[in-house]
Amino acid sequence: MTASYIENLHLENVRQFKKLNITFNKGFNFIAGPNGCGKTSILAGISHCFSHQSFKFSRFKDDSQFWVDVKVNNNDKRIGSGPHSLNLAGYRKDSLKSWIKPPKAEGRESLSINEAITIIKGFCPLFIGAHRSIKYKQISGMKREMPLDQQINSNLSSSSESLYGEKESNIKQWFVNRYFVIDKDWAQEERANWFHMIENLPFIGPFNSNFSYIRTGQELEPIFSIYGEECYLEELSAGFQAVLSIIANIFEWVEGTNEPGKRIALNAEGTVLIDELDLHLHPEWQFSLREGLSRIFPNLQFIVTTHSPHLLSSAGENEVIIMQKQDDNKYTLQPSKKRFSGWNTDQILSEIMGVKSLENKDYEKLIAIALVKIEESSIQGLRNAISNLVEVCHPGDSIVTVLKARLASMVALQDD
Ligand SMILES: Nc1ncnc2c1ncn2[C@@H]1O[C@H](COP(=O)(O)OP(=O)(O)O)[C@@H](O)[C@H]1O
Ligand SMILES: [Mg+2]
Repeated sequence: MTASYIENLHLENVRQFKKLNITFNKGFNFIAGPNGCGKTSILAGISHCFSHQSFKFSRFKDDSQFWVDVKVNNNDKRIGSGPHSLNLAGYRKDSLKSWIKPPKAEGRESLSINEAITIIKGFCPLFIGAHRSIKYKQISGMKREMPLDQQINSNLSSSSESLYGEKESNIKQWFVNRYFVIDKDWAQEERANWFHMIENLPFIGPFNSNFSYIRTGQELEPIFSIYGEECYLEELSAGFQAVLSIIANIFEWVEGTNEPGKRIALNAEGTVLIDELDLHLHPEWQFSLREGLSRIFPNLQFIVTTHSPHLLSSAGENEVIIMQKQDDNKYTLQPSKKRFSGWNTDQILSEIMGVKSLENKDYEKLIAIALVKIEESSIQGLRNAISNLVEVCHPGDSIVTVLKARLASMVALQDD
């Protein structure tokens, strides 16, 4: 039973938002909407509630206020900042003037950002930005890992850097460190996590890819296997790099920011926020990623943004938060009760992502023509329409199959 997660975010005069209220569920949350509607800004807004060092990534006004309502070990807390807490000094220069608690709410303790850091330091969300390629870097050996408090502080203070790709990813060092520590007596949790990850890698790759970890050799280069071929970390395609860096990042965070005894990934709680989860991923992979992540980290809360209809079709009930740009910049958002697994890609594109041009697509036009030809009982017309459709559509398209059956019955009737 998940006891720690983000329940709500409230932003007022932060960035482009006049007002934003958004409710999350404690499992998966997919924030979906067209480009520029403000998805990344929601994640940035959350980062402000946990660290004043993130403020430089946004523009504020004097009366700006923002907070998250969180459950921490089943206690209700509100963390953030009330109005008049900032020195407004211009683009990327706004800084903190004083710590001000967010307004009180019934049954909830309000904490300013610095109080939260000491009082509920275990609550330390992980932000993963949309920049995820792994640049080649030589690793010379094991690197001492930071002590817990330092890891938590470093994670909180660099949340916006991570979100905006200004922080270097170090997952290769993590792989090499694990190679050195997993057989040590003191590394039981690390060992359990390592094997949990290795076992699950094949489930997160596309069908038949047999994605797996092979070994780390003397030269300290982790080697993987994919479609039966060995390859180095940096040689993996962008999709594998993206998924691997997300997963390794989460393991590293679970182990680095929890006390010993609470570092098992299968049991770990907390919130992971990922911008553009679908980035670099082949559609087939997008269908399976949600399942893979919740299999490896079943008790984490995920708040992710996406443009991808494929990813959305993997979402369950209460998991999709649909965002459309509002002219007055006021938003009240919550997960939709619907599930989208039965929707096709076009329906998701037009109804959720706000793509308006689908009626003009060749496919839609040709279907319309075919329907007219059926209406006119024109066999030749329908035959032409179908052969045009076959050129543009998927070989297994179900509507074309139906049209062909219809053509066959029209031909049979004529022959009678
Ligand atoms: N630092 C900022 N301060 C104020 N407004 C911003 C800032 N960054 C982005 N915006 C505004 O937010 C809008 C939406 O941006 P973004 O959240 O990146 O959208 P999305 O992620 O949905 O594509 C931008 O068009 C811009 O007007
Ligand atoms: Mg964005």
